Parts: sequence; C-alpha cells; structure tokens
Amino acid sequence: MSVTKSRREFFGIAAATVAGAGLFSKRVFSQSAADKPALLGGTPVHTGGWPAWPEWRRTWEPSILDVLRSGKWYRGSGEQVQQFEAAYAKLVGARRCLATASGTTALIVGMHVLDVDAGDEVIVSPFTFIASYNAILLNKALPVLADTDPATLTMDPASIERRITERTRAIMPVHIYGMPCDMDPILAVAGKHRLPVIEDACQAWLAEYQGRMCGTIGDLGCFSFQNSKHLPSGEGGAITGNSDDLLDRAGSFHDCGRPYGGFKGARPNFTRGGNFRMQHFQAEMLLQQFDKLVQETARRRENADRLSVSLKEIPGIQPARLPANSRAVWHLYPFRYDADKFQGLPRDKFIRAMRAEGIPCSTGYQEQYFDGLLDEAITSRGYKRLFGAQRLKEYRDSFQELKGNRQVCATTVAMTQNLLLAERADLDHIAEAIRKIQAHGAELARA
Ligand SMILES: Cc1ncc(COP(=O)(O)O)c(C=O)c1O
Repeated sequence: MSVTKSRREFFGIAAATVAGAGLFSKRVFSQSAADKPALLGGTPVHTGGWPAWPEWRRTWEPSILDVLRSGKWYRGSGEQVQQFEAAYAKLVGARRCLATASGTTALIVGMHVLDVDAGDEVIVSPFTFIASYNAILLNKALPVLADTDPATLTMDPASIERRITERTRAIMPVHIYGMPCDMDPILAVAGKHRLPVIEDACQAWLAEYQGRMCGTIGDLGCFSFQNSKHLPSGEGGAITGNSDDLLDRAGSFHDCGRPYGGFKGARPNFTRGGNFRMQHFQAEMLLQQFDKLVQETARRRENADRLSVSLKEIPGIQPARLPANSRAVWHLYPFRYDADKFQGLPRDKFIRAMRAEGIPCSTGYQEQYFDGLLDEAITSRGYKRLFGAQRLKEYRDSFQELKGNRQVCATTVAMTQNLLLAERADLDHIAEAIRKIQAHGAELARA
C-alpha cells in the first residue's frame, strides 16, 4: 500500500456527533456535486494520501533488539512467546492462547485438534480470504460453503443446517472484515448437531458479539498477525479457547508432537505434529502494539460509525448491517453498490472513478469457488478416493446455490482499514466523492 500522509494528533480530536456527520456531508454535497469527476478531468476530491500501514515506532526497537541479541530465538528458549500468549488471552477474554506461525497454521492446528480428519467436511463462509478454504483442504477435508447473508456479508445461519451430512465435522464462521457473524443461531445449529465451532477471527481482533470477543465464542478461535493486519508482526497467528485439553493438544501438534501441558500423546516423547511455532521477536513486536491496537480500534469504530451515517443517506449505497449488540473492527469497510441508482454506472467504473477522486477502494472477494482451486482439489486422486464421485459431483453443483454470496460478490465495494485512521475532514471526502460520482453517473458510464 503506498500512502504518503502522516497521521496527526488522531487521538486528540474531539468526536463530532453522528448526527453532525450527516449534516456535514449534505453541506459538502451541495458545494461540490456539480464539479467534474476527476476521471473526466476534474479536480480530485481527496489529495495527499491516507495514513500509512503498517507503522513502525522507534520506541519498540530496544526490546526487540534485546531479543535478537539474546540468541534465544526459538520457542524452546526465551519467554516472549509465552508472555504474548498470556497477554493476548487476557486481552480477548479467553482462558488460553497458543501463538502460531500464521493464521493459516492456527486454523490447520485448530481443526486437527477438533478431530477434523481426511474425508470429513467443514462448513465455512464462502465470502472470505482463500486461506479459510485452504486450511480445510490442507486437513484433507472438504470446505462445504454455507451461503452469505447479503445484508451482513457474513455466514447466513439459516443456510447451514441443510449442508450438514454424516461427514460434517465442524463449522467455521468467518468474521470477515472484522464484522462479527451472528453467532447465536450458528451455535444453536452446531449444538443441535453436536458439531464444534472454530471461528476464523483472522480479521477480527477485538471485534465483539453480545459482550464476548470474536474468537472466544466457539470452541476455538484463530487469529492472523500478518503484515496488513491491525496487530501485525509480518507473519504470526494465534489460537484461543477455554479448553485446556484442546489447547494442550494444539500446543503439542504445533510443536512437532512434543508433550505439551497435560497432553503427552500416544508415545512417551512425540506424537503426530508439525512445526507451526511463532518466534520470540514476533511475539515482542506484537506485545509492543497492544495499546496501539486498542486505541486504533476505537478510532476506526468512531470513524466507521460516522461514515455509515453519511453513506446511508446516499441512494444505492448500503453499508453492512451488524448483528444486534455487536461491534466490528473494520479490517476493511465494505458497502453494497447499486448501479441502478448511479444511472447504470457499472461497479468497476465506479471504483475507477473513486480511485481517481483519491479514494482507494476495490471489489470484495469474488466467487472464488469457480476459480479452479476447489476443482483442482476435488479432481485429485486423494479427494476422489476419500469422497467418491457422487458426493463430489453434488458438492460441485452446490456452488450454484450460493445466491446470497453471488449478490455480495457482484455488488460489494471495500476500503482498507487505514482510511478509517484518517482525520475527520479527510474521511468526509469519501461520501463527497460518491455523491459527485453519482451526480455524473451517466457521463462516467459513457466514458
Ligand atoms: C479470513 C482469513 N482467514 C485466514 C487468513 C490466514 O492468515 P495468514 O495469512 O496469517 O496465514 C487470513 C489472512 O489474511 C484471513 O484474512
């Protein structure tokens, strides 16, 4: 991400009221909607870039240098990884946390200890980063796609039950873009069928659902600390949960099958496992950023609330609906775009016009189940042997049923989280740019 603007006194700025935000956008509209769109040679609404991400602070350097100079870099020596685990568990309100090498490996390990095995099925949100599908495939299980609720952009709880078969082993809701899934009905169907729930919270650090943090609501939660994330260490991940048995098994499996906590495995020394360990310097980087995460989460929320109020006033722009009593953390800020309300301006051209106005945005996830990855898996020797031709044909056909997800993939526009760290006046440029584009939709569509 190439951005140039530095952040100035973000946390000292008094909060404007939400009602005030709406009035402000209307005033801006009356001044500028008639201006020529930047894509047609007019002046961009926003110049000067957006806050850079990720952000490094020199004050973090001494403690990280201490780790590097100690020579204790591996989990088996040193203590930063264990400190991070204790601190992260406390931060999100889980009894236990296990640090891992990445979000993908957290999901792989989590599913393994929930007994997802070769030939099993896991029901997952389709509207997600491909790693959610891949983690299931890497356990040699089948990612069975629930539908997406077009209003919330997350797993539609009503679509889960009919996808349960005798092979179903777990349900994996994804709190995509940091927006909590509606967990109560998901837990209800899981409970009815005695299925564990593994939350893909890889984009949802500190997101809340009915007073609980995402990643602590199901049996296990998985997080990512990859470079773009709100709590980044280049690579990294974590599994959270309340069960000592599951977390000890996870600890063992992520550490080559060594005995871990109360889990000794089948043999005196090693049992099945891999190396999915985090390094101490990564843990130290993460520990340094906890306060920043908390402060920036509050800022993103305030700004997202303000943005939603102004966007809801624009015909054809529909911000995502959150479940009751929940708070998103907005890894991306998405909205649904209705081209009919923009004089037929197609979404791709709308995005180009927004970028020309200085507002970076993109489409959300695509219907990636048609892209070949799943075909490659299900035509492999192993999958054919594990599932048989009939189940795999039914499975492939079922992609056509994902009508909610199709709508979401066709109409979503999303902006990355760093825009929500901008100053208020800059943030108001987003609605201003959309209104300007709307006023010139037909011209832009022809251009
Ligand atoms: C929803 C989701 N799941 C899983 C992952 C995998 O995390 P990682 O990249 O740390 O392996 C990501 C990472 O972007 C993600 O966004």
